[in-house]
Amino acid sequence: MDSAQTTQSSVSAGEAVGRSKGEKVMTTGYFRHWEQKEDTVDNEKGRDLRRSQYTEFVNEYASIWSARQLGESFHFCRYPRGPENKGKATVRHEHYLAHMMGLRPGMRVLDVGCGVRKATELANADGMAKTVEFVKGDFMDIPFAGNEFDAAYAIEATVHAPSLEKVYEQVFRVLKPGAVFGVFEWVLTDDFSPSDPSHQAIRSGIERGNGIPSLQTKAVAREVLKSAGFEVLATEDLAERRDALPWWYPISGDLLVIRNTEWGRVGVKLLVRLLETVRYAPKGTLKTTEEFIGAADSLIVGGKEGLFTPMYLMVGRKPVV
Ligand SMILES: C[S@@+](CC[C@H](N)C(=O)[O-])C[C@H]1O[C@@H](n2cnc3c(N)ncnc32)[C@H](O)[C@@H]1O
Repeated sequence: MDSAQTTQSSVSAGEAVGRSKGEKVMTTGYFRHWEQKEDTVDNEKGRDLRRSQYTEFVNEYASIWSARQLGESFHFCRYPRGPENKGKATVRHEHYLAHMMGLRPGMRVLDVGCGVRKATELANADGMAKTVEFVKGDFMDIPFAGNEFDAAYAIEATVHAPSLEKVYEQVFRVLKPGAVFGVFEWVLTDDFSPSDPSHQAIRSGIERGNGIPSLQTKAVAREVLKSAGFEVLATEDLAERRDALPWWYPISGDLLVIRNTEWGRVGVKLLVRLLETVRYAPKGTLKTTEEFIGAADSLIVGGKEGLFTPMYLMVGRKPVV
């Protein structure tokens, strides 16, 4: 997205809540949101509860990731050419969104949910410091005045919102009339059946492992974009393209990503258990590792069965009144 002048917003989460830096405990508080009353664990009541506890929920999830080194981007992408450098494939995915939105040099663009960790450092390294401003804030209450931006985009971020309506309305508010919003949304597909127990388990696994209060369907996301006021210019599930490799390939395992193969995962668990036992790894690391392996499995099955996509592209325009 380097052709446009970009201003970015990010979640106010990111620091482990109430833990000192030296304390050797992996934050597992996040998972308590599924360990409440049995009848609220995995149903709409549970989802409402997680929405209502949103601030703690998102902070606790972010604190798990803040312990890890993430690169410049943290999202899935397509692999139309077979195995290739992930960085290149990722950038191409981002450029496609920029292309579909018609981003141009000189535009003031908001990246909704960019993540601030190491952001300034990375911008400096890329020689972008003068054109990028990072603002820490909650996209449920975007800290900018109305009608400020020429465009806005969100890559795999707004799924974390407790209300898709509210976050899209916030984006609508800060855009100038005629400005475009482009999003890669995580959604359930039309093949998802809410009454099918195996589908329900996949949905819950994806939500639980990825800090998502409640996953929506494509149809709902499209309607919400419209009801926020946008004129819908384009929608496409890029996961439906016939690519050489699917988007879940990097987490599903082949010889290049051995720790993600079935045996690799068993090995990782054994190693983590050992490290935790000898107190080299902080307490809670094994639980977190197991949770994330479960989450990856739900994503893979959801992708393979065509029930879930992390790349539902939607482009909407704020009408010129
Ligand atoms: C999967 S990451 C994607 C990050 C970035 N868009 C990218 O593509 O690399 C999801 C991001 O959403 C951000 N996020 C989640 N809830 C948020 C909120 N309420 N306000 C702002 N950002 C939020 C997280 O901080 C995280 O950086």
